[in-house]
Amino acid sequence: MTLSSLLAFMLGLLVCQSSLVGARAVTILQERDDNLPARVPYVFPPPGTNAIADDIRQRRVNGTLLALDGVLLNAPLVAQSWNSVADVIRNQNSIPGTMRELFILRIAALNNAAYEWRHEPVGRSEGLTTEQLKAIRFTPVFQSQSARKTLGSELTAALDFVDWNTKSVEVPIHVFNTLRSFLNDTQMVEATATTGFYNFVSRFVEALDVDGKVNTPVPTPE
Ligand SMILES: *[C@@H]1O[C@H](CO)[C@@H](O)[C@H](O)[C@H]1NC(C)=O
Ligand SMILES: *[C@@H]1O[C@H](CO)[C@@H](O)[C@H](O)[C@H]1NC(C)=O
Repeated sequence: MTLSSLLAFMLGLLVCQSSLVGARAVTILQERDDNLPARVPYVFPPPGTNAIADDIRQRRVNGTLLALDGVLLNAPLVAQSWNSVADVIRNQNSIPGTMRELFILRIAALNNAAYEWRHEPVGRSEGLTTEQLKAIRFTPVFQSQSARKTLGSELTAALDFVDWNTKSVEVPIHVFNTLRSFLNDTQMVEATATTGFYNFVSRFVEALDVDGKVNTPVPTPE
């Protein structure tokens, strides 16, 4: 191989690599929620330029940063610690997946956080039915017993728990103990961390108007 052909080969590699990065960046732009503004500018560092953003990409479906991530990355250490807590709660949690998603979606409904309702497809993939999603969306607060036929006793106990934790903060001991009859101590702590964290998420996305969703009604499951 002559020096000039070697140089040409290396140049070719460089061009190929940068066009790949370009294609990836375009994909990421297209899939980032609805691209509506928030109350702070979005910070989306290109792949390979910011270790925290790259860690978040690894956790996201298709490696795509969300509008939420673009808001968080204004404060990189907040984004980084949020990412590790969210990973534990989403991926290293031993409570049933249906219960985890019921907690998240119920908080979205109670706190009018349309952005957080993006979990509906996750809830479906964990096994929540359309009727159950409707019960989570529309059962009046503190009326969980009226949804028992649709949810069954375990998810009804979970609905009651998340209602109290979200709307009253204090959880009466009988509400705690009813959920406790389905979960062990590890899981009670995980359940409470899940409801606490997703209340944090709802307050964060609403105050910063992530993806411009503050005035969007929470969707109706169909
Ligand atoms: C991920 O990529 C696949 C294939 O392009 C696409 O069908 C799917 O909708 C994407 N998922 C998300 C959440 O963007
Ligand atoms: C509670 O149950 C989960 C799921 O079965 C299990 O992973 C965990 O080790 C249990 N914790 C205790 C303290 O038994």
